[in-house]
Amino acid sequence: MLVTGNDILVPARAGKYGVGSFNTNNMEITQAIIHTAERLRSPVMVQMSEGAIKYGGQDLANIVIDLARRATVPVALHLDHGSSYESALKAIKMGFTSVMIDASHHDFEGNVKETRRVVEAAHAMGISVESELGRLGGIEEHIVVDEKDAFLTDPEEAVQFIEQTGTDYLAIAIGTSHGAFKGKGRPYIDHARIEKIAGLTGIPLVAHGSSGVPQEIVERFRKAGGEIGDAAGIADEDLQRATGFGIAKVNVDTDLRLASTVGIREALMANPKEFDPRKIFGPARDVMSQVIEHKMRVLGSVGKA
Ligand code: G3H
Ligand code: 13P
Ligand code: NA
Ligand code: ZN
Repeated sequence: MLVTGNDILVPARAGKYGVGSFNTNNMEITQAIIHTAERLRSPVMVQMSEGAIKYGGQDLANIVIDLARRATVPVALHLDHGSSYESALKAIKMGFTSVMIDASHHDFEGNVKETRRVVEAAHAMGISVESELGRLGGIEEHIVVDEKDAFLTDPEEAVQFIEQTGTDYLAIAIGTSHGAFKGKGRPYIDHARIEKIAGLTGIPLVAHGSSGVPQEIVERFRKAGGEIGDAAGIADEDLQRATGFGIAKVNVDTDLRLASTVGIREALMANPKEFDPRKIFGPARDVMSQVIEHKMRVLGSVGKA
């Protein structure tokens, strides 16, 4: 069933488990996400970025909405990194049930102002809202507190921000970063900060940049002719700990990009004569399903729907 973000994330925060919010850009990705969720009885969020909307538009949104409506588990369609009020409103008109307004690059007051506008409009239509405070980026384990405080989310500010905006869930900067290169070795996650923010607030917290970049997938990518440098993601144990504290929405895009490319490369390598798209995109969908299943097990959302 198609539900709002709150319908999925409020129980997740209360139950101390995480729900994957996976980026989609086509039918196969959407099927892998929603069908895996059904198979594992897991709630799930499907998110489209502004780039995904540009690429797939209402056609892609309708695929997600149709699969969500027919699904036997709760599914929300979420706007990822909405850059403006107009963008959030456009997504709501397209049928999204959750929107992010990312005004984290503004100063605190500017962020509050932009977020509150979106919250007021979205709530009038029964849609829930994600916003962001702090700046995403990898951090070194041993940097001094002052440097961390410069961009990681400040707990006291988070309390003020939630009060002043009425945001339904909040993305916080805790050491994760976007993409396949999150640091050398295991990226440092500021668990003490998550625990502090969760202790002072009641709403679901969101972690962006949460791909695991599994070494097994990276090796298959290389073996199938792909080129990739020192790829590193967030450790499963770090994500598990974070969900225990109050991270309820866990954003994953990079892992699906890698998995689908591995499926396509392996299929083409194994049979250079192949040109049936189903024999090429089908394996991509299968590899993505495996990666999604692993993530759902790590986050503890399996069996929650
Ligand atoms: O955080 C960004 C997501 O990975 C979406 O990326 O804007 O290239 O679709 P995109
Ligand atoms: P990854 O790049 O780690 O998959 O993060 C995706 C994300 O945060 C989308 O908003
Ligand atoms: Na998002
Ligand atoms: Zn993100």
